Amino acid sequence: EELKDIESTLINIVKGEVNYLIKNRAGAYFDSYNNKANDVDLVTEIDKKVENIIRDALTFKYPAYGFIGEESYVKGESQLGTDKFWCVDPIDGTTNFVHGYPMSCCSIALVENGFPVVGVVSNPSLGQIFHASKGNGAFLNSEAINILPRQLILQKSLVAFEGGAERTEGPDGNFDAKMATLKSLLSDKGAHIHGVRCTGSAALNMCYVSMGLFDAYWECGVNSWDVAAGACILVEAGGILVGGMPQDWRIPLDNRCYLAVRGGSNPEEQRWFVEAFW
Ligand code: IPD
Repeated sequence: EELKDIESTLINIVKGEVNYLIKNRAGAYFDSYNNKANDVDLVTEIDKKVENIIRDALTFKYPAYGFIGEESYVKGESQLGTDKFWCVDPIDGTTNFVHGYPMSCCSIALVENGFPVVGVVSNPSLGQIFHASKGNGAFLNSEAINILPRQLILQKSLVAFEGGAERTEGPDGNFDAKMATLKSLLSDKGAHIHGVRCTGSAALNMCYVSMGLFDAYWECGVNSWDVAAGACILVEAGGILVGGMPQDWRIPLDNRCYLAVRGGSNPEEQRWFVEAFW
């Protein structure tokens, strides 16, 4: 099946009950969420319900494809032998969802030979469906994403950053190390960046970089389901993804630190930006 048709199928899936639940149940679980790995790693029954809706729809229509979803993923499980699989975060930004802050989305990617070739990210509270497929460009709702060709330079940038929900030692969870990177961006670089923003959703950060609202997004500790769909959208919108294992989206990821940089500038500026960032 053509990737563009798969893109349309995914849009239709999120447009139904998925969008309805994420939009209308936001804020309703403040007293009834559960914790996963720690006190700041939240899940609600809607996360699981949305994942089941998506899994049922996709496995019915595409029985041969593998499936990885945040809520049903069993640590150590791998899709290494699968050349095509779905990579799904039913609600990315679950903390926002619990609080009713309108920055939660559903993120669905089709990963083929280690790279996301179709991506759909839907934030129903803001009426935004971002979508892309390999070679077909990136869209916000029905409009193609075209970024203004303005200068890309660290000193004039707005950067999305997330602390993440992991509280472990090592680069993915170690808060001191993440804060050191943040501090260096805000104060130690030769000239300071314009500012840092946290939306609370990795997938939406990727989309907002794709459309040029942010110049870049950096996080250590993301999982494939957080960023796979956004990566397809970003690349189709001319952006780049560095760090981590951008060419290899098989689970589990070895390196979970990513820097996403917007398009709308020449590749040289993108390279300089990446060099200046580290
Ligand atoms: C989280 C969000 C958050 C990011 C974390 C993710 P979830 O996803 O995307 O912004 O910092 O790394 O785990 O748990 O809400 O699906």
